[in-house]
Amino acid sequence: MKVDRRRLELTLEELSRIGETPRGGLTRLALSDDDRRARDRVVAWMRATGLAVRVDRMGNIFGERPGTEPLPPVMVGSHLDSVPTGGRYDGQLGVLCALEAIRALDDHGVRTRHPITLVVFTNEEGARFQPAELASGVLAGRIPLEDAYNARDKDGVRLVDELERIGYLGPEPCAARPMRAYLELHIEQGPLLEEGGYSVGVVEGIVAISWSRVTIRGTQDHAGPTPMRTRHDALVAAADVVAGVRRLARDIVGGDMVATVGQLSVAPNIVNAIPGTVTLSVDVRDPSDAALDRALPMLERVVRQACEREGVRWELEHYWRVPYTPFDPLVVDTIERAARAAGARHRRLRSGAGHDAQYMATLGPAGMIFVPSRGGRSHCEEEFTPMDDIECGAATLLLAAAELARAE
Ligand code: HGY
Ligand code: MN
Ligand code: MN
Repeated sequence: MKVDRRRLELTLEELSRIGETPRGGLTRLALSDDDRRARDRVVAWMRATGLAVRVDRMGNIFGERPGTEPLPPVMVGSHLDSVPTGGRYDGQLGVLCALEAIRALDDHGVRTRHPITLVVFTNEEGARFQPAELASGVLAGRIPLEDAYNARDKDGVRLVDELERIGYLGPEPCAARPMRAYLELHIEQGPLLEEGGYSVGVVEGIVAISWSRVTIRGTQDHAGPTPMRTRHDALVAAADVVAGVRRLARDIVGGDMVATVGQLSVAPNIVNAIPGTVTLSVDVRDPSDAALDRALPMLERVVRQACEREGVRWELEHYWRVPYTPFDPLVVDTIERAARAAGARHRRLRSGAGHDAQYMATLGPAGMIFVPSRGGRSHCEEEFTPMDDIECGAATLLLAAAELARAE
């Protein structure tokens, strides 16, 4: 069985135009008008492919291809939302390769005992509404629906109101259903596959992730007359924290730990006022939950010492945590066999990026298929994956899904 490379390429080109940035990337924030247009386009493709479409209360979209028996489905999919000035492969490539796998089964007249369900998750990125993986977290019963509904973007707009506004506040309960397996194709977003000349990554697990918010309160004052000796500058303390976070991951804990301060806001954020309040984000990841547990008290010490030096007050809130997620060994083996059958050079590896598969793995056997990222780049407009590798990845997804769904 083969996928239709040209058809896949055309769907990717067409969908990439929705939310496209002038430099060929993607800004398609969750529940924005562009997200709605992309959803509508994918739903139209689902319907044209004969899938039964349903939408749940978190706006997750499900397109079901019936099996020959009423068995739990193999679910295949990913997300359509992007980060601002992100790339055109993160998320939507997995949705389109899943659609292509289903279309290829139809092309070859292949029936499967288990149904196959194409799934699109809402708000995977956590760029507009935090935290990430919000809708799969609700589906997995790890995040209360009301908490997700009340998540607000930077303008104070609630997630539920945006779901309603774009017409994707579906009637179906956002709750787990029995599933045979979950498969997600995704770009690696790191350098390993390209460095080794591999087309496919057989993902064995996803790192543990912790998101924290630091609020620093100093003394807002005039930038001119206020003597340096009397200042309590929230941004000076924040700068210490940023440098301390880098040292914590790279020099103190080391190993596979990574840490990033990606978001920072300053008030009043004008040239001639000493910053009174600064909030910043801290994203810490490690394959080991124990290492992450050891790092969080160290993070608190970094914040406390930076703020004591500057004589400012601080709050630290750890508001999102997903544990290290090992994928199901049988699914991983199935993916590896499928990659081999697809003739793809492949290797096993771990994901440094989070995915909806983390929560789906709590509901049943799950696995992921990676394709290379040029230069390892992602969450940027330079994100790119060659079509040859995409074809290998999609073929691997097709064969793995067919095997797990018990093709006849
Ligand atoms: O944060 C992540 O790793 C993913 O891109 N949401
Ligand atoms: Mn993604
Ligand atoms: Mn992403």
